[in-house]
This record gives sequence, C-alpha cells and structure tokens, in this order.
Amino acid sequence: MSTLTASENKTTSQKDFLPLQGTDYVEFYVGNAKQAAHFYKAAFGFQSLAYAGPETGVKNKVSYAVRQDKLTFVFTTSLRTGSPIADHVYLHGDGVKMLALSVEDAVSAWHETTNRGGRSFMEPVRLKDEFGEIVLSGIYTYGETVHLFIERKNYNGAFMPGYREWKSVFCPPPTGLKYVDHCVGNVGWNQMDHWVRFYEEVMGFRNILSFDDNDISTEYSALMSKVMSNGNGYVKFPINEPAEGKKKSQVEEYLEFYNGEGVQHVALATDDIIGSVTQLQDRGVEFLKVPSTYYDDLVSRVGKIDEDLEPLKELGILVDRDEEGYLLQIFTKPVEDRPTLFFEIIQRKGAKSFGKGNFKALFEAIEREQAARGNF
Ligand code: FE2
Repeated sequence: MSTLTASENKTTSQKDFLPLQGTDYVEFYVGNAKQAAHFYKAAFGFQSLAYAGPETGVKNKVSYAVRQDKLTFVFTTSLRTGSPIADHVYLHGDGVKMLALSVEDAVSAWHETTNRGGRSFMEPVRLKDEFGEIVLSGIYTYGETVHLFIERKNYNGAFMPGYREWKSVFCPPPTGLKYVDHCVGNVGWNQMDHWVRFYEEVMGFRNILSFDDNDISTEYSALMSKVMSNGNGYVKFPINEPAEGKKKSQVEEYLEFYNGEGVQHVALATDDIIGSVTQLQDRGVEFLKVPSTYYDDLVSRVGKIDEDLEPLKELGILVDRDEEGYLLQIFTKPVEDRPTLFFEIIQRKGAKSFGKGNFKALFEAIEREQAARGNF
C-alpha cells in the first residue's frame, strides 16, 4: 500500500543545510544538439535562449539553451569522439545528464553535500563575463546523472558565461508549460533504499510517499517507488526500482536500453492541461493512450471536476484525486529512439500526490508499447 511516512507531518527544527530554490535547468547529452533544440522549440514551444560552442570560445562541444516560462532545457553534443560527452551518448543514447538546482551559495552546497558523502562531480568554480558571475559546483547522483548547484544571484546575462544570447527568427508559440514539477529516476534492483538514504543523508531530503508492488503492478510487471522531497517542497525526486513480474517491467527495460540508472521522466507543470496537450499533440508530440473505458467510471472515482469530460477523453488526459484535491496528467511516449526518457504533463488542482489511481491503466498502456517492441 502507499504510505505517508512518519516524517511527513513532523516539523523539523533543524536548519536546512541545502536550501534549494528550485530546478535551474535540465541538461541533456544528445547526438545532435542543434536538431534536439529545434524539436523542443517546434513540438514543445520552447524559445531560443543561448548558445555555446567554438564561436563563443568553447572548443569541443556545442550547447543550445531553450526556455519556456521557468523551464530551461540545455542540449549538449560533443564535437569530437572520445570525450566524456560522446561516450555518454554512445552508452546511454540521448538522456538527462544534469539536474541543475538553484542555490543561494554553491560553495556551501558542495561542502555540505560532499562532507556528507556525496561524490564530487565538480568543485566550486566561478565563471565570469561582462554580465556578472555565476558559481557552480556539482555532485553525482544515481548512474552517471549529476546534480549541479547553480548560484546566479550576481548574474544578469542571457544564461551563463560561455554562452551568448541566441536570437532566432523561428519562434513557435509556447504551449503553456511552466516549471519542473518532479523528476523521476530509475535505479537498479535493490537500489531504491540506497538512493533514498543518499537523498536523506547527503541532500537533507525527506521520503514523503512510498509505493510498493501492490500499488504499482499489473498482471505482467511491477515496480516500487519512493518520493523524495527537499525541505520547502520545490524539488521532488521519485525513485523507482523494478519488482518481480511475469514479464520485464518498464524499469528493467529502461535500465537495459539506457545501460544503467538514469532519469526516467520529467514532469512539466501547466495551468491549462487541455490547452497545452491540444497544442503538443497538434505539433506531433506522441502520448500514451488508455482505453476509452477509463472514462466510463471517472466521475464516480474522482468526484466532480471543473473540466468537461469530452476533451479529456479525446486527448487521453488522466485524472486522480487525493485528500487535498485532484490532478490531471498525461505521459508522452519516449522522446528518443531508445525506450528511455519520456515526459509527463501535469496540472495540479490542490492534489500533492502523483496519480496513484492511474498507475494500473497507465502501466497497461506502457506494456502494450513494450509488447510492440517484443518484450517477454
Ligand atoms: Fe510523474
């Protein structure tokens, strides 16, 4: 059963040693950053923000930063073989490398986390240009994924030193996506509790919600999940691990194709899910579909909601309710060739949970996709 942990209602008098102001950006290592940036502009409605590459003094890689409201994505490609970025793409395919978090003090963030056992990715460095200074540092989390700590209070340039503003004549309208709601990691067998402890001990997070394989299983596959949240709730990282089932679970399939642990999905918040998903579908973003019978008993299951049922059904948007309200959500198919990273679009109307009532319908939809890929 899903359980709220004891610490959920406990007020902590301890000072938060890693105060986080939210997600600063998500950086993807990809095979072709130029084309990836174009896809996220055209399909998801991001706008050109900044570019780094040989023309800006960066020798061996290019990066394109795009933005929509508080969401910033960066796509990076190596210009040469035999580099850590090229090796990352060779091993994992396109995927999330950095979950960058905004902090007041990136030097303190690095000391606090590495003193607690965090493995350093990057000691604090100061980057300067004519627009000011950014301080950044970083530690590894699961797999080869990294948390960067970004301090940008003394910076007012487009993105960060090393980049120049990227102006483009191609500016497709936004789709109403606003910020990262949560970001889910897939970890290996028996590794969930290890990474729960990492977030608790190294980063001061709390486990606010747990799901076991009774909550998240279908006839064929299963997984377990624990949701980690920082003190102010701005940053939430659910952690999944596979559980035994008759067939390969979606987490196992991910681990196999990604060649290890990594980010499974990033949930993007909107205030108008019907408007956003209509736009996204019109622009070619593919979503998982549940059978139309899902909507037959929806109102009796979740109670009265503000939205008309018909557009929800037409678009395939799911609804779930908890004690505090309800939420609407939908999941894309994987956004690259390997069945690895996908996105969730979510609109919260009071609910603070993650759509437990939709797990079964959703996982059956995922299994139909897996079956089409030949999963046994
Ligand atoms: Fe999610």
